[in-house]
Amino acid sequence: MALGTIPVHRTTTPRPRPPEDQLGFGKVFTDHMLTIEWTARDGWQDAKIVPYGPLALDPAASALHYGQMMFEGMKAFRGADGKVQLWRLMRHCQRMHDGAPRLCLPALPPEDMAEAVRALVKVDEDWVPSAPDSALYIRPTLVATEAFLGVRPAERVLFFIILSPVGAYYGAGALTPVKIFVERELTRAAPGGLGAVKAAANYAASLQAAVRAKKDGYAQVLWLDGVRHETLEEVGTMNLFVCIGDELVTPPLSDSILSGVTRDCVLTVAREWGLKVSERPLSISEVIAAHAAGNLAEVFGTGTAAVVSPVGELAVDGQRLVINDGKVGALSLRLYDEITGVQRGTRPDRHGWLTAL
Ligand code: COI
Repeated sequence: MALGTIPVHRTTTPRPRPPEDQLGFGKVFTDHMLTIEWTARDGWQDAKIVPYGPLALDPAASALHYGQMMFEGMKAFRGADGKVQLWRLMRHCQRMHDGAPRLCLPALPPEDMAEAVRALVKVDEDWVPSAPDSALYIRPTLVATEAFLGVRPAERVLFFIILSPVGAYYGAGALTPVKIFVERELTRAAPGGLGAVKAAANYAASLQAAVRAKKDGYAQVLWLDGVRHETLEEVGTMNLFVCIGDELVTPPLSDSILSGVTRDCVLTVAREWGLKVSERPLSISEVIAAHAAGNLAEVFGTGTAAVVSPVGELAVDGQRLVINDGKVGALSLRLYDEITGVQRGTRPDRHGWLTAL
């Protein structure tokens, strides 16, 4: 399906632009949104860009009852030259396409999704911020909208995209090391479950542990496997990297780990730098032993929102493992500078990760 020219119904009441140093994350939205309807009978239809505003959803919409919905998260940047570029556009579109069948949601062809993203970002291009650590966060979403309470895949679905100018994900600013609680009891994703997909339900499943951790002064939790609670999986909403001695380890992709786009950037760049990189299972016992031996050099999370988020302390079974004196590690910093440099156009884009609008 090609979307053709997407009609644009412009707002007559543009929103005020917040100062770029007060953006926070995901609190402000641009003037427009894009919607495309899907029905089992007619497929995708009626792509349009309209003023940002509430959706009219039937209270029986199946997403509201059975959670049949998923999303993507990607970014556009205003480069040092003032031009707006999209970061790893096709990879994000492909990921949504590949994940949708797990939720029995219709998959928009990746080329069409990319076209939709570009069309909307073009309309709201002047919302893309330029301050350091800022970006335009792009949130494509698939929602089952059919009004039907039987449990089966919905025959009516809405794809929409909203845009949010954002600053650093953690209020304290990018690269501020966070304290993390190692969650031994609750599970984010089980084998055979939804963990490899950006299903809304995964984020719902993460909330209680995060709230408990925050109460105790931790920014987020480190997720262990859902069976023995022993093997490391993810950290908060991010993929996880651990530096033990000179080995950079990340858990291998599985049906309970999201195939992170920033994870892929980190693996690519670290391998090019000649670092020893392993995608292998890593147990919490090995992390504790590495810390005791003085070999736990760095721990960090990677994700679209925060890029690289260093961990300064892990709390595990009543023990506090302080990492790199609670300071940003050299590798975290180097990776952050490289990836954000390419995003901003101040370092060469050797992999074609940026797409012009
Ligand atoms: C990311 O790290 O990019 C995320 O997935 C966080 C997002 C859900 C806000």
